[in-house]
Amino acid sequence: MTVLVTGGTGKTGRALAALLRERGVPVRIASRHPAAEPDHVRFDWSDPRTHGPALAGAEQVYLVPPVGVLDPVPLVEPFLRAAGGRRVVLLGALAVVPGHTELCERVAALPGSAVLRPSGFMQNFTGRHPVAVDLRERGVLRTATGNGRLGWIDAADIAAVADAVLASDVTGELLLTGPEALSYAEAAAVISEVTGRPVRHVDVTPDERARQFAAGLPADCAAALAAVDVDIRAGSEDLVTSTVPDLTGRPARSFRAFVRAHRAECTPPPPPRPR
Ligand SMILES: NC(=O)c1ccc[n+]([C@@H]2O[C@H](COP(=O)([O-])OP(=O)(O)OC[C@H]3O[C@@H](n4cnc5c(N)ncnc54)[C@H](OP(=O)(O)O)[C@@H]3O)[C@@H](O)[C@H]2O)c1
Repeated sequence: MTVLVTGGTGKTGRALAALLRERGVPVRIASRHPAAEPDHVRFDWSDPRTHGPALAGAEQVYLVPPVGVLDPVPLVEPFLRAAGGRRVVLLGALAVVPGHTELCERVAALPGSAVLRPSGFMQNFTGRHPVAVDLRERGVLRTATGNGRLGWIDAADIAAVADAVLASDVTGELLLTGPEALSYAEAAAVISEVTGRPVRHVDVTPDERARQFAAGLPADCAAALAAVDVDIRAGSEDLVTSTVPDLTGRPARSFRAFVRAHRAECTPPPPPRPR
């Protein structure tokens, strides 16, 4: 049962590929820049000629939609047609973003498919995400979420759920969170405790948040993500589900454990010395 892993070089896809290989499941890693390995294949959402060859010989698909695209449906639809009756496990989101939510609905309607809808990734606090950059450079988390909480989840737990779904006949929509919901101010307090450096949440306007996202995304996507902050402020992601333990048989990783494991990447600079 070969699994085509789109987004196979990304946060969840890479971890899923490792889990599949551990189980002895053949994988095909799709990327715009494939490594010179026999199980890597060139794949570009915006080039439908790459879809068929990537799917050839694969019975199941892990689908990470194109990133930085407000409406992924026009790019993904030809791929779903080419995929025919193959089983699809889609990485969606708990957040409601019109085009992406429509894609979730379309995939959920395919027989045997599953749609994973995770809350915010803990990985937003590491790497190149704008929240992570602000944290590392200034010790602040700038969002428009107010006191709204999110059930932060480790991308590795999403991959573990995807692996469990692909190994079973689980179908339908799955809401994924970590073990607790934390506001950004509460997340800042955890990071301060773990790193020993002051970190604070700064509540900004949705426009300012959109400008922050626009540093790495098209303006329409940045505005859509800023609108998600407004929903979070109203409580849209203030929930905790048991999907990770239910499907993997172990607890979901806590935010504190994640920050401990990624301490160096989450540590802000030391505060300036008083003169
Ligand atoms: N961050 C969050 O808090 C959060 C929460 C819920 C859901 N999500 C969802 O998670 C998904 C993944 O987002 P992420 O930022 O974590 O990215 P990621 O999965 O770490 O990286 C993006 C992946 O997509 C591939 N990719 C990008 N553009 C492509 C294209 N045109 N054709 C083929 N492959 C392409 C990249 O592969 P190559 O560069 O190798 O081609 C890479 O493997 C998004 O759909 C997002 O909505 C994120």
